[in-house]
Amino acid sequence: MNQTELYVSLDIGSSSIKVLIGEMTNGALNVIGVGNVKSNGIRKGAIVDIDATVQSIKKAIDQAERMIGMSINEVVLGIPANQAMLQHVKGVVAVNSENREITDDDLERVIESAQVMSIPPERELVNLVPKQFIVDHLDGITDPRGMIGIRLEMDGTMLTTSKTILHNVLRCVERAGLQIRDIYLQPLASGYFALSEDEKNHGTAFIDIGGGSTTIAIFQDGNLTHTSSLPVGGDHLTKDLSIVLKTPTEQAEKIKHQYGHAFYDDASDDELFEVPVIGADMKEQYSQRYISEIIGVRLEELFEIVLEEFYRMGIQDLPGGVVITGGVAKLEGLSQLARHILQTRVRLYTPEYIGVREPGYTTAVGLIRYAYMEDQFFNRFGVSNALGQSKKPEQNTPSVKKQKQVSGNDNKVGVMGKARNFLDKFFE
Ligand SMILES: Nc1ncnc2c1ncn2[C@@H]1O[C@H](COP(=O)(O)OP(=O)(O)OP(=O)(O)O)[C@@H](O)[C@H]1O
Ligand SMILES: [Mg+2]
Repeated sequence: MNQTELYVSLDIGSSSIKVLIGEMTNGALNVIGVGNVKSNGIRKGAIVDIDATVQSIKKAIDQAERMIGMSINEVVLGIPANQAMLQHVKGVVAVNSENREITDDDLERVIESAQVMSIPPERELVNLVPKQFIVDHLDGITDPRGMIGIRLEMDGTMLTTSKTILHNVLRCVERAGLQIRDIYLQPLASGYFALSEDEKNHGTAFIDIGGGSTTIAIFQDGNLTHTSSLPVGGDHLTKDLSIVLKTPTEQAEKIKHQYGHAFYDDASDDELFEVPVIGADMKEQYSQRYISEIIGVRLEELFEIVLEEFYRMGIQDLPGGVVITGGVAKLEGLSQLARHILQTRVRLYTPEYIGVREPGYTTAVGLIRYAYMEDQFFNRFGVSNALGQSKKPEQNTPSVKKQKQVSGNDNKVGVMGKARNFLDKFFE
């Protein structure tokens, strides 16, 4: 049976806010709406101005809504990884049913029991990711339902963040008039789908270089094991260019996109381009190689800090290499420079879906796919409230109409639907 579920993801980035409307049919994603607007009010991945952020979110939502002619109700929200912490947790329950068959209820209870771990008062739970289930003494189980047993255990990872950061993000989304379907730590959702199964298992660093921040996430044995966020990104490259070339920021950004190169040895020295100088009625000429030196210095420094972070995390070996994504992954020569400094295999990741073939969309795509994956696992279909009223009825697509008729069935939202409950609690 072809069942189509609709999801809307929201990635509040330092450079731009991305909104994707996606249809998931039998595991395949089809992006039917995109909003992407320059963000105001976010610096280094953290919200510094609520009003400005709310306005930017509204604009991005509006853009996506116009593409499909319907209003957006509910979003899957990404939580930035700055201040995120990972903690190993364990849950144990006795199997409830008389015939000892493990049911949805046991699964929910064991996940819940792992959440009993005390979370410090200044921190808040973002996600609880099961690593494995253990039935009696048999471990390595990915889905215990249907098995027979007495004792059900779960090993998992608890992802928490600072209350302040989360509170501000939630406040902005709420004030933009949106409900939240689920929240996921950004590198969890994006890395999970950007990396291959082998990469996730063998030990790989997933690096998202955005506008104001760089997020490192390590995946090992199939799970997210470490995450760290650095307050450096593409905006610093723009600023450096603006200062050294004495040109306005806007021009510097354009030059970076058009002629930018990260690796001096491969940058071209033949072609010259003109750059307007601030406060002077003149233009200067530069080559790609010249600006590659400015860009290269900053990125070299960034990759040196990444190496220090690996060291700090205790990562000695990355058999799966490094996978880089985020807007800056579009910069020519980036993978060469990364290979040179990190001394390992480096590949770039760009999502391969029509309309979003840009490395800056990795998180927004990952959020939709992660939400779908969890919904599948917990059989939570038919609960989507992603879209609401039609804005321009003549533009409705059949699948969108179908979605509108789906009735709410909240009791199907299992333990992992906690975001919703959690939000109710949060805004009481
Ligand atoms: N073709 C390109 N060449 C160089 N840089 C680029 C290119 N395209 C985008 N960028 C840069 O990528 C950055 C934006 O990336 P992205 O959209 O991933 O960031 P963000 O998610 O908004 O920010 P963050 O994740 O830090 O909060 C900007 O600095 C932008 O200039
Ligand atoms: Mg980002």
